[in-house]
Amino acid sequence: RAGEKPPSLLSLADLSVEEISTLLRTAMTFKHLYKNAGPRGLIRTLENQTVALLFSKRSTRTRVASETSTALLGGHAMFLGKDDIQLGVNESLEDSAKVIGSMVDGIMARVGAHSEVEELVKHSPVPIINALSDLYHPTQILADLLTMHEMYDTSSALAKTPISAERPQRELSNFVNSTIDPLAALKGKKIVWVGDTNNVLNDMLVSLPRLGMTIAVASPKGYDKVDERVWAAVQSGGAAENVILTNSPQEALKGADIVVTDTWISMGQETEKQARLDAFEGYQVTEKLCAEAGANPDWKFMHCLPRKPEEVDDDVFYGKRSVVFQEAENRKWTIMACFDHFIGRWKL
Ligand code: CP
Ligand code: NVA
Repeated sequence: RAGEKPPSLLSLADLSVEEISTLLRTAMTFKHLYKNAGPRGLIRTLENQTVALLFSKRSTRTRVASETSTALLGGHAMFLGKDDIQLGVNESLEDSAKVIGSMVDGIMARVGAHSEVEELVKHSPVPIINALSDLYHPTQILADLLTMHEMYDTSSALAKTPISAERPQRELSNFVNSTIDPLAALKGKKIVWVGDTNNVLNDMLVSLPRLGMTIAVASPKGYDKVDERVWAAVQSGGAAENVILTNSPQEALKGADIVVTDTWISMGQETEKQARLDAFEGYQVTEKLCAEAGANPDWKFMHCLPRKPEEVDDDVFYGKRSVVFQEAENRKWTIMACFDHFIGRWKL
């Protein structure tokens, strides 16, 4: 595909509802094939290819998901941490993007400012996937959507599909190309975010309303402003009426089907720790808060992890409502779908 601009994924705002749905069908198929037929059930669209994992911040889930899914797709993942390469110390982002991009087939990049991942897209000859910037975390929300699908679509068409491990490619194509909508059971659900207006929330804001869900956000004054780039994307998504913004957790939580939060102190905000702990007092997710606010009696709890105890107590985090570890595992199947779609198949 010489001369063609490579595809990239910087935010779910980049994707149509149909594209999100296709990525989820792919992730569901990978998970189902692997669980039923083991590694031989998978296809190898990254055979003889290398994915660079360019990470300027710590990571457990995103890194492990990226490395293991690249291996299962037959490729090689090369981890390039901030202390390993010249980037940021002796070399610019532009030069690094050109050099690394000339030797690998795709780049999964975890950066500080969102402009850094945009700069990579500008100069890289290969696809870029955003593995977290200060503005967005698209692969996290794909995993969250897969988890929500598993929560609500218990009669999933895929679960009933007989799998032939001998013909994984055919199974994959049949399901991925079908008109089955993994998001159908999510329509009308109320997702409530209690916490900081951060990168993880932002990708929910630009996707969930378009998928027919309501998202209510409760954040304290001073931490309640949705970034204007995100709000512009919410509005161009055409479903801004499905977003509720408030300072009151009690108001937001009324009728909640899923309660979500994240750390109050994202990576890079460590010096603001005390001010943030003070500002977010009263925003910890607990059974008492949700019950008093009138959440749906069988509300579920989600969190992208890593978790600190201040934003959610142990009873909720380790309790029966929590799907956080299923959500973490789903990072793998959804990142695998992204690598297959944006890197492996782009070349085909
Ligand atoms: N949720 C998430 O992105 O976790 P890591 O920082 O461990 O990758
Ligand atoms: N909001 C968090 C997410 C980590 C996965 C951060 O940016 O540090």
